[in-house]
Formats: sequence, C-alpha cells, structure tokens
Amino acid sequence: MNITFLLNGETRRVAVTDPTQSVLDWLRAEWLSGTKEGCNEGDCGACSVLLTDDNGTKPLNACLMMMPHLQGKALRTIEGIAGPDGTLHPVQQAMIDHHGSQCGFCTPGFVVTMAGAHLNGQTDHDDQLAGNLCRCTGYAPIIRAAKAAQSAPAPDWMRDRPVDLDTVMLGDEDANAFLPRHSDDLAAWYLTYPDATLIAGATDVGLWVTKQLRDLGKVAFLGHCSDLQHIEETSDSFVIGAGVTIATLRKAMTTPHPSFAGLLRRFASEQVRQAATIGGNIANGSPIGDSAPALIAMGAELTLRRGDSLRTIALEDFFVEYGKQDRAPGEFVHSITIPKTAPGLACYKLSKRFDQDISAVCGCLNLTQEGGKTASARIAFGGMAGIPKRAYALEAALIGQPLSEAAITAALPALEDDFQPMSDMRASRAYRMQAAKAMVLRYAREASGQPSILEVQP
Ligand SMILES: Cc1cc2nc3c(=O)[nH]c(=O)nc-3n(C[C@H](O)[C@H](O)[C@H](O)COP(=O)(O)OP(=O)(O)OC[C@H]3O[C@@H](n4cnc5c(N)ncnc54)[C@H](O)[C@@H]3O)c2cc1C
Ligand code: FES
Ligand code: FES
Repeated sequence: MNITFLLNGETRRVAVTDPTQSVLDWLRAEWLSGTKEGCNEGDCGACSVLLTDDNGTKPLNACLMMMPHLQGKALRTIEGIAGPDGTLHPVQQAMIDHHGSQCGFCTPGFVVTMAGAHLNGQTDHDDQLAGNLCRCTGYAPIIRAAKAAQSAPAPDWMRDRPVDLDTVMLGDEDANAFLPRHSDDLAAWYLTYPDATLIAGATDVGLWVTKQLRDLGKVAFLGHCSDLQHIEETSDSFVIGAGVTIATLRKAMTTPHPSFAGLLRRFASEQVRQAATIGGNIANGSPIGDSAPALIAMGAELTLRRGDSLRTIALEDFFVEYGKQDRAPGEFVHSITIPKTAPGLACYKLSKRFDQDISAVCGCLNLTQEGGKTASARIAFGGMAGIPKRAYALEAALIGQPLSEAAITAALPALEDDFQPMSDMRASRAYRMQAAKAMVLRYAREASGQPSILEVQP
C-alpha cells in the first residue's frame, strides 16, 4: 500500500510492504536516528514523536505506531523541533539553560514530548512527562526547563496541518492492510475476513509484533473510521464510540464522572493514552484492563456489530473467562453506553508506581443509599480473577445494610465467595484479597466524610 503524510513539514509518499512495520524502525532506516529505541514497548518515551490530525497534535510512541497509522497525518520528529534556520525551540533552549541532559539518550524523547505539551498549552508537566524515563538527571532540571519554556509563544513551524484525506488512498479490499473510512466498510470487510486482526491504537497489538515477533496476516486499521470516534450525549447517557482514545475519554469524563477520569489519569502515560482506544481496552479482554471495572460498576452496556446487525449486552457479560469474550467471528466493538450520572461511583487503582503502571488490583464501587441503608450496589474488580468481574456476593451482603464500618466488616467475607485471586509478580493472592477488602472499607469511610488513606498525590 502507498501512504502519504507530512514528515517535518514535507510531503512524503511511501510504499509500505509490511503494514506492521513500526514508525520507529522506518525512521531509523531513513537515518532520522534522533528518535531512539529504548524499550520498544511503550514504556520509556525515547521514541516520542508528534502526530497531527484533524483533532490536533499529540505525542505518541513511534515504537507502537505502525506505518499505516501515518496515512494523511503530519509527523514531526526531534529533527523537526528546531526551526528551519536552526533556531532552537524554547524547550530546547530551556533544557540547555537548566542542565536537563546528561548522557542524552532520553533527551530527544523528552524534548519532543515537551514541545507537544508546549504547543498544546499543557502545564501539568509531571503528567505530561510521566511516559518519559531518564536515568541520569533526575527529573527536577527537566521539569524546571519545562516550566521555564511554558510562557514562550509556540514557534510557527510547529503548527502542522494534516494532509487532505480526500487526496490520499485509503485501503482497497484486496490489500493485506485495509484502512476503512467508515464502520460500514469495516463491518463488510470483517465479515469477509473474520480471521483478520483489527488494529486501533496498537498499544497492545504493537507488542505482539515488537516482542512476540508475530506475523499478523491481514489487518485493518480502525483509526480513519471517524464515526467510531464520537462521544454522543443523550438525555440520560453517553454513547462512547469504540475508537475514542483514553485521552479524549478522560477529558470528557472530568465533570460527569470525576472518579473515572481520575482512574484514567493513571492509565499508562500521555503517549499511550493518546493512542489507546476504549474499544481496544475492552476487546482485549484483559483481567487487568482499567476501564472495565469502572464501566461495569456504572452499569455500562456494550454494543457489538457484525455485518449490518448490532446487539447490545451488559458489559460484564462480554467477559466469559480468561481469554474468551462473547464476540462472534466478524463481530467488533462498536460503542459503550454509560449513564450520565453515577454519584456513588468511586474508582481505586492499586499499582506499584503512581504513573504508567498496570494495576495489581483495580476496584470500582457504585452504591446508592436510601433511608440510611444501601439500596443498590454495583461493585467490580480487575486483577482479582481471569476477567474483570462483578462482586455479586458482596453486593448482596451490602444491600439493606447501613454503610457503617461494622456492617461493611461483617459483609466483607462475602468477597471470598466472589474471588479466588492468583499470585503473580504484581501481588500475592493474600495481598490482593486484603487490598480489595480495604478498598471497600475505604469507600465507606470516604462516603461518611472521613479521610481514609493518604493517597499519593502527583
Ligand atoms: C506502556 C503501556 C502501558 C499500559 N498501561 C495500561 C494501563 O495502565 N491500564 C490499562 O488498562 N491498559 C494499559 N495498557 C494496555 C493498552 O494500552 C490498552 O489495553 C489499550 O486500551 C488498548 O487499546 P488500543 O486501541 O491500543 O488497542 P489495540 O492494541 O489496537 O488492540 C487491542 C485488542 O483489541 C482488538 N480491537 C481493537 N479495537 C477493536 C474493536 N473496535 N473491536 C474489536 N476488537 C478490537 C484488537 O484486535 C486487539 O485484539 C498499557 C499498554 C502499554 C504499552
Ligand atoms: S522505545 Fe520505549 S517507548 Fe518506544
Ligand atoms: S540524560 Fe541520560 S537517561 Fe536521561
């Protein structure tokens, strides 16, 4: 397939023979070697680049991006951060002034991410840079540099425009890689090729290629299906398209569901959140995916599409057992519907680091009270079973009881009927159970206005 994109302001047309080739590998083969390979799995940010599309400019990890992801977009690498006449970008000058670089291996990635945050007026530097690792400087000089540069105007050369999509080819049906522009086209193609791999943000799929060296065969890239990228508001719900990124969802949830937005703040890093989609997070069926427990606790419904047929199920019913979901061949995740309000929702993520870490346990509780007693309860956990799962026995034990510490303590043994967690590198079985029970107690204490624990603050 041929793709067209802007690279540091210049139009490039590239014949792609391997649609799963990473942008990082391609850049380095082109001798644009300022973009570094550190981990090759989305953790270190050494490969950070900026990508501009109709929705703006975002930092992404080039190691997780595949060449067809570039179609119609504008890519800016570290080589394009200084001006065409060599004038340094304000963040480059600030990194020099504040001694933000020692060995320098991480520096291009930091500068690119900082230039993206600078362009977008983002000043929460700890959050923006959580996906960039530096082993030499410690982060203080880098954060000082980011702060020093934040009030300088964004240079003109940083304002990329995407390519007009009507002028570029999107995939044809015989090629090994299909780039549908609408979910109708995707639905028809996927019925014909149900064994093909769907690729959204590639923050999971990318690792199948870079780490497991898998040949994915026929693939479809969902990123141009703009109809899957909307959040529609109805009188009582939000309908979230499968292609909505975690970054977009986080922003949209800040006011209606602040606890869910807070959980998404701790989902990976900015680079991963800008690529990762909610559809991919659900479809992968991971027992430690962060969105599912929150969505289940809210009573989310999942809409799946196969050909022209849509069906809607409760999200908890989608997860059948480890590695198995209720999804027929040729069927894909279309959208997720959640209620507009869930005042009783609280989401807790427990992981070894605050930023960019996978949950050991993720607990989400959504209780309502009537006459001093629990009237309804939806509680779901990740990391406690082979799938994200509802705590039905605990819910039953809590309903009709006051939300007092004594009543909660009496109900907590029911959690052992719901879950028999496993031990792995993230946590032991006993720790997981103890931590899950502590989350329920925390919920009750917070509901009664008591400060419960000293939460790590970013
Ligand atoms: C460094 C790093 C940190 C991470 N941290 C977290 C974290 O903190 N919390 C967390 O939950 N996850 C985390 N992840 C995992 C990953 O980011 C998420 O699972 C993400 O939501 C996947 O979305 P995607 O769009 O990238 O999916 P992809 O990788 O493109 O696809 C994932 C799976 O879903 C399928 N798929 C995608 N879209 C659809 C669709 N519409 N219908 C049917 N199938 C579909 C694909 O075929 C594939 O099987 C992390 C990943 C990395 C690399
Ligand atoms: S090489 Fe580490 S995030 Fe890409
Ligand atoms: S300067 Fe050496 S890793 Fe950051």
